[in-house]
Amino acid sequence: MAGPAPGRRLRLRPLAALALLLALAPGLPAARAGQAPRPAERGPPVRLFTEEELARYGGEEEDQPIYMAVKGVVFDVTSGKEFYGRGAPYNALTGKDSTRGVAKMSLDPADLTHDTVSQTGLTAEELQSLDDVFTTVYKAKYPIVGYTARRILNEDGSPNLDFKPEDQPHFDIKDEF
Ligand code: HEM
Repeated sequence: MAGPAPGRRLRLRPLAALALLLALAPGLPAARAGQAPRPAERGPPVRLFTEEELARYGGEEEDQPIYMAVKGVVFDVTSGKEFYGRGAPYNALTGKDSTRGVAKMSLDPADLTHDTVSQTGLTAEELQSLDDVFTTVYKAKYPIVGYTARRILNEDGSPNLDFKPEDQPHFDIKDEF
């Protein structure tokens, strides 16, 4: 009586194959019953952008989406093509983190940087303006597609434990690496 009868084993095989298929098939709810769903099943995955990656989305290509970051949050500003597309007035802000420029309402190339500290720090007024534009323009109008690597990682590459994702309740740092 060691093991099931041969006939029974044969009948189980297709079932086992089905179970395996279900377990491997992404997006089938039954496949992951009892497990926390992964972000991909709850909406588009959130991306981590290096400077080089973000630079590919500066609106040069007609059919590419246009991205820009403010405070390390990468927004898809494609729907604002009249502001951000090629030849449009704010195109210079795209394909990079333009936090300083947005805070100062400046398109000076020296201000088109994430760095709000090393030239001169921002005034209280500029910081307030940055937060206002961040909330009332970017977060209100444009989908968040990810974060800059700089926002999530420390200089030494370790995860920044202070990172709090905006409007990304599903963001799980474990899933992004
Ligand atoms: C002569 C100077 C400027 C004028 C007359 C001007 C005018 C405008 C106008 C009319 C809008 C559109 C508002 C709307 O339709 O919702 C706008 C939006 C905006 N402006 Fe300016 N602007 C000027 C300079 C600047 C500069 C130097 C910056 C530098 C960062 C800037 C950043 C923005 C941003 C980020 C938006 C929001 C765009 C969006 O909705 O995505 N503006 N501006």
